[in-house]
Amino acid sequence: MKWHKLDMEIPEEDFVKLIKLEGKKICLIKHENNLYAVQNTCPHAGGILSGGWCKNGHIICPIHRYEYSLQTGRGAAGQGDYIDIYPVEERVDGVYIGLKESFWKKLFS
Ligand code: FES
Repeated sequence: MKWHKLDMEIPEEDFVKLIKLEGKKICLIKHENNLYAVQNTCPHAGGILSGGWCKNGHIICPIHRYEYSLQTGRGAAGQGDYIDIYPVEERVDGVYIGLKESFWKKLFS
């Protein structure tokens, strides 16, 4: 796991937005004053989760309204799917997101 510092100011109010980190598209979310980072593509049919919204601790996909837990990534009952979630740490010098390093990157760095 490698931690990457975000190069942005975190707004006061809640938001759902697309960010790019290490060439990867990530959906960054502030919901009820907590920060979450999840995969940007919906596993159902490729909807863009950063175009969605949050409700009761879930990100809602804008295409068919599937819901995924911001805490666990699990789809709502009956969906049987999940999204990747990435750890977020708020440190004194900024916000960091943890990404797994790929095998090949590890090998050649
Ligand atoms: S594409 Fe996201 S719910 Fe269908």
